[in-house]
Amino acid sequence: MAQLIDGKKISSEIKEELKAEVEALKRQGKEICLAVVQVGQDPASCVYVNNKKKACAYIGIRSEAYELPETVGEEELLALVEKLNQAGHVNGILVQLPLPAHIDEDKVIRAISPDKDVDGFHPVSVGRLWIGEPGFLSCTPAGIIQLLKRSGISIDGKECVIVGRSNIVGKPMAALLLREHATVTVAHSHTKNLKEITNRADILIVAMGKRQFIGADYVKDGAVVIDVGMHRDENNKLCGDVAFAQVCEKTSAITPVPGGVGPMTIAMLMNNCVQTVR
Ligand code: GUN
Repeated sequence: MAQLIDGKKISSEIKEELKAEVEALKRQGKEICLAVVQVGQDPASCVYVNNKKKACAYIGIRSEAYELPETVGEEELLALVEKLNQAGHVNGILVQLPLPAHIDEDKVIRAISPDKDVDGFHPVSVGRLWIGEPGFLSCTPAGIIQLLKRSGISIDGKECVIVGRSNIVGKPMAALLLREHATVTVAHSHTKNLKEITNRADILIVAMGKRQFIGADYVKDGAVVIDVGMHRDENNKLCGDVAFAQVCEKTSAITPVPGGVGPMTIAMLMNNCVQTVR
């Protein structure tokens, strides 16, 4: 029987730990403030931003919301980021992505001070991660490391295969697994013989953005499977990149969707916010 990796429970544990830490920091006179910048009213972004604000309130972090219209100019957004960089009371800056097409996302990410980059997207944060210096970690991959560790799954020496090479998940995931002494393969849309490669994995991390693509034939017996995907199935129910029902039986441990990786991202964002004052 596969172990179900309970992201909801593990993320709650992390949030409880952070809440206690924030209370202790407050007693030392240290307050934390996260600036949350949203451009436009993309429905998915609204849900994410709301959840982030709620998590802040729960943990005891102050959140400041900056809502800009869809039509805002790039210069105006960059000016706001610069103002937040300079604001002494603001510890972390989060600009919700995606941004409208007329705004250069990379330029905005680079404008955020690396000292306030709680998303871990700035090239300085990415560079620090790859050379093993302390810095802010991209939240979803950092959450996956926590899921594995807190589920008693060792990473050291394991064959890890990541499917997907995005800047937000696949690439930082590879760096984090390397740091934990895994042997890492990154597969992507141009990879040949994907099935052969995923079948080598002791730990398979799927972030390809294709609904229920990974079937049982992609998975080695006894593997650990982490599903980063988020989709709606034909019955409008949430599902992942992994065909859970058939893959589950082959694994030693697997994350469900929902309730797996998803809740971890916000928990790790909160951790990054606390890190700004540690
Ligand atoms: N949009 C989707 N995921 C994220 C995230 O982790 N951070 C930000 N800033 N935007 C996102």
